[in-house]
Amino acid sequence: MPGANLVILGATGDLTQRLLMPALYRLYRLGYARGLRITGYSIEGWSRERFRNHIHKALRAFAPDYQAAQARRFAAGLDYISGGLDAKQMAPLAQRIQGSALFYLALPPPLFGTAAVALGEAGLAKTARGWRRLVVEKPFGTDLASAEALRKQIHSQWAEDNVLRIDHFLGKETTQNLMVFRFANRFLEPLWNSAHVSQVQINCPEMLGVEHRAAYYDHAGALRDMLQNHLMQLFCLTAMEPPASWDAEVLRDHKVEVLRAVVPFTARNVRRYTARGQYVAGRIGRKRVPAYRREPGIPANSHTETFAALRFEVNNWRWRGVPFYLRSGKRMASNRWGIAVEFKQVPDVLPGAQTIANNWMVFRLKPQESLNLVATAKVPGAKLEAHNVVLTAPYARDPDKEFSAYEQLLMDALEGDRSHFLRFDEVEWAWRLLDPVLRAWRHGEPEPYASGSEGPASQNRLLAPGHRWRPVKVSAGDLP
Ligand code: BG6
Repeated sequence: MPGANLVILGATGDLTQRLLMPALYRLYRLGYARGLRITGYSIEGWSRERFRNHIHKALRAFAPDYQAAQARRFAAGLDYISGGLDAKQMAPLAQRIQGSALFYLALPPPLFGTAAVALGEAGLAKTARGWRRLVVEKPFGTDLASAEALRKQIHSQWAEDNVLRIDHFLGKETTQNLMVFRFANRFLEPLWNSAHVSQVQINCPEMLGVEHRAAYYDHAGALRDMLQNHLMQLFCLTAMEPPASWDAEVLRDHKVEVLRAVVPFTARNVRRYTARGQYVAGRIGRKRVPAYRREPGIPANSHTETFAALRFEVNNWRWRGVPFYLRSGKRMASNRWGIAVEFKQVPDVLPGAQTIANNWMVFRLKPQESLNLVATAKVPGAKLEAHNVVLTAPYARDPDKEFSAYEQLLMDALEGDRSHFLRFDEVEWAWRLLDPVLRAWRHGEPEPYASGSEGPASQNRLLAPGHRWRPVKVSAGDLP
């Protein structure tokens, strides 16, 4: 990327200081950002010096590998331009940015369209020398109609190939490993279908509450914040057909194909296949925490869901009859994230077989990334008895090799690798599936659940006979 520019719009905001700058600083430290010119752009009338100091402080607070002298050198290389989101105000930016450039919209979602159009009108979307790309954060729209309107706005100035819709889950190591593990192991593919798999659970519970994000979150809710994008991407990667090549378009075609195979929700089946909840007061560890409706900035009568669960049925040859359960919620009992695939029961010929769990393959994303296979083996001793054993492969921990999601995705964006970014039709099909749920959820209320718990009881009505949600909270000795 020598000689390229990275322009962050919304450079004085939270995303920039918490995630983008620490990621760029690490890339700089590792020598991956040599020659990259970084310019902050924001409405704040700050001087370049003030911006540099602000970023230096942010690195001290948020960069895990902060080192004072290096951070100062990194900050000293940053540029800053103050201005608003129209072509006229962007003229100084257009003068300063020459050659290849990546524009990152680290802005509140309602401003994405305006910013993309302003960049285009200021002449920044095209250049005769080099490339121009636009990174758009999530959420891309709030439903199908608004996503389509945003697409039109952006496409009025930017070609689809130059628009990189980010979903930071696609930059996570385990997400990328899911694809490698699925498609690079001979033994897995023959088993990865409805003949052998009985269910798939994608669980992403969080102990955090709404934090300082009331204004955004109360309009979004768990379905839009986590399921529509992150969990549905994990679903796509788990369920898609093996691609013939690692080409961005082929990968994205396969993801869209599986989304199109999901049996649509209807006004009638929403109650059966979805559940929603909202946290009330409770305990997270030893700490007492307030109800969602008592959080600062949240209306006392808010109907926003902080927990959402969905059951997908996939109508294709590979998956027909295998439920995919997707679930995420704030203020739950743990942060144990995983994609868990259960294999069907074997004939119980062994003594004690009834008490043994089926085989599970668990891709754990949090608290530590790892790969786990629950298998059955003999209990050592004179008797013929079986029990579960767990084969675990922890993910490597070499701090200079493992990349955070933002580090990975920023590198990909600068290098023009689109495979880990969303094409518009992926977003579109995700909304197509969820629009009927959003419509149904305009009525009624989410079920209350205590903070620190497993979530609302109504989540159990989604389950097929014989299935149970994997516990959010586990004790020592429990299966992974
Ligand atoms: C974000 C959501 O996209 O992902 C948050 O807006 C959520 O609500 C976060 O907490 C979780 O991702 P991670 O990997 O950064 O913990």
